[in-house]
Amino acid sequence: MENFQIKHPNPHFTALCSFVFVCVSISSVAANLPLPILLNCGQSSLAVDGDGRNWTGDDGSKFLPSSQNTVTSRANSQAPSVQEIPYMEARIFSSQFTYTFPVDSGWKFIRLHFYPADYSKFDASNAVFSVIAGPYTLLHNFSTFITAEALNFEYLTREFTINTMAGFFNLTFVPSSHVPNAYAFVNGIEIISMPSIFSKPGKFILNGQFIQEFSVMNDTALQTVARLNVGGTAVSPIKDSGLFRTWYDDSPYIYGAAWGVSYAKDPNIYMRYTKVPSVIAPLNVYSTARSMGPDPNINKNYKLTWTIPIDAGFIYLVRLHFCEIKTYIFRPNQRVFTIDIDNQVAEREADVITWGNGNGVPVYKDYFFIRSAKSAEELLVAIYPNIGSGSQYFDAILNGLEIFKLNDSSGNLAGPNPTPPPQQIVDLRRASPSSKSGNSSHFIHVIAKGIVGGLLVVAILCLAFAVIDLQRRKGFTQLPLEPHLKISSSFGQENDLRGKASGRHLID
Ligand SMILES: *[C@@H]1O[C@H](CO)[C@@H](O)[C@H](O)[C@H]1NC(C)=O
Ligand SMILES: *[C@@H]1O[C@H](CO)[C@@H](O)[C@H](O)[C@H]1NC(C)=O
Ligand SMILES: *[C@@H]1O[C@H](CO)[C@@H](O)[C@H](O)[C@H]1NC(C)=O
Ligand SMILES: *[C@@H]1O[C@H](CO)[C@@H](O)[C@H](O)[C@H]1NC(C)=O
Ligand SMILES: *[C@@H]1O[C@H](CO)[C@@H](O)[C@H](O)[C@H]1NC(C)=O
Ligand SMILES: *[C@@H]1O[C@H](CO)[C@@H](O)[C@H](O)[C@H]1NC(C)=O
Repeated sequence: MENFQIKHPNPHFTALCSFVFVCVSISSVAANLPLPILLNCGQSSLAVDGDGRNWTGDDGSKFLPSSQNTVTSRANSQAPSVQEIPYMEARIFSSQFTYTFPVDSGWKFIRLHFYPADYSKFDASNAVFSVIAGPYTLLHNFSTFITAEALNFEYLTREFTINTMAGFFNLTFVPSSHVPNAYAFVNGIEIISMPSIFSKPGKFILNGQFIQEFSVMNDTALQTVARLNVGGTAVSPIKDSGLFRTWYDDSPYIYGAAWGVSYAKDPNIYMRYTKVPSVIAPLNVYSTARSMGPDPNINKNYKLTWTIPIDAGFIYLVRLHFCEIKTYIFRPNQRVFTIDIDNQVAEREADVITWGNGNGVPVYKDYFFIRSAKSAEELLVAIYPNIGSGSQYFDAILNGLEIFKLNDSSGNLAGPNPTPPPQQIVDLRRASPSSKSGNSSHFIHVIAKGIVGGLLVVAILCLAFAVIDLQRRKGFTQLPLEPHLKISSSFGQENDLRGKASGRHLID
């Protein structure tokens, strides 16, 4: 489904993307940085993926010190959304195994690709393992099978950001010692060098108060929890501004039925990166937005909210991307709004025009918060008008949303395997009582919760339909209201990372 979206983007949206600009920004990033490493594990030859990116086989490559104690295999079956490259071939480890990558010092995206299928005689359910990178535990007791079943995904990508030291970067796969016949496997590994995009300090909020400036230190590793193109469609790696990130549609994460309105930039808005470098996010992200809608009376009475499952016991970085893309919003105090993160006010008077010094100027804001070990596992991000500000419009806007988890004091980023979260939209055709991660009573519980939630928002739903209908007549792009029956995951955003912070760094 996701791949379908990426390969066949909305033509209206594609037309908006400034192809030239994207190419220029890619080359300017690429010029200063080492070439990406794309390793197609379990393969010996060069292969090209659906986006035209070249993947090197790990067999015979300098990254594979020896293939001893490893097996390569092709998946026994291919699910519809699963691409041949890099997912159909795997390298399988029955005991601890280390890939060694020669790297320079600096920040890297490390992306691990997994297709949880049966491989030859290796049963998908026995793939339970840890992945270690230097002092960091990236994944622990990770069951690709349970994760994919619980979240209803056909393949999984896990993205980490690590500042490597010059020399060698080791990536170690360790099969679980708690599961009989456990093995580890991987289908693809990406290592993408990047400039330091996390060094600028952001606000740390605690107990509803802005505590202090906080920044990601050089010895911190991050895991990407969500990366959303708010109000737009998915952006594929080659359409990113040089770092090969995938940006996802935000609509599955909208809380309740109050969707607001999504729209693209007015044609005569001149987009320019004067406040942030283009590598922060592509214009595809900044050229679309979601706002609350045209009716101030409706907007005064709800919060446009996204909900993202997270793990307890970690510090999180929430990065919000903004750009005013309507010609009628061009001076300060026209659209002033409040931002809540984790039920705390993060920004009381957000004014994107003031931040960007005009419309068409991308800006972003970083906020940190800590989720204590015992609290709820959903993160809410909400925007709503600041009524007391004297703002001309009672409205709020967001263009992009990224969420990153920071490693805990023991260097751990891992959490337990997921169980289906209540707000997850369940594919009735696939969810079955026999599923490893749930049982029928749990499943009914999930549905019941969904129904109760649905009733509670009926009033808002009616209003939202009215708003959307109005928007449609005015010629805005409105959102599809079909349920998302199946979502492919790129990151851990579907709560596969729930868990306690401590004691998980030890190799099992
Ligand atoms: C992929 O490899 C081919 C053959 O070596 C080369 O011509 C092409 O430019 C490469 N593509 C990319 C995107 O690097
Ligand atoms: C972080 O690392 C970069 C190089 O990767 C270095 O230039 C910078 O001084 C380091 N910062 C701190 C605070 O150590
Ligand atoms: C990386 O792994 C290799 C092989 O296991 C080992 O010899 C080397 O010491 C490791 N290097 C680091 C920096 O961990
Ligand atoms: C992240 O892990 C590293 C390595 O274990 C550690 O030095 C650092 O303090 C950790 N960061 C935080 C915020 O605890
Ligand atoms: C590993 O994960 C499974 C499935 O989520 C869970 O039942 C088990 O308790 C976990 N084991 C450890 C040692 O964390
Ligand atoms: C089924 O799920 C429910 C709700 O999660 C739980 O209370 C119950 O113990 C589970 N039953 C079995 C047999 O696992």
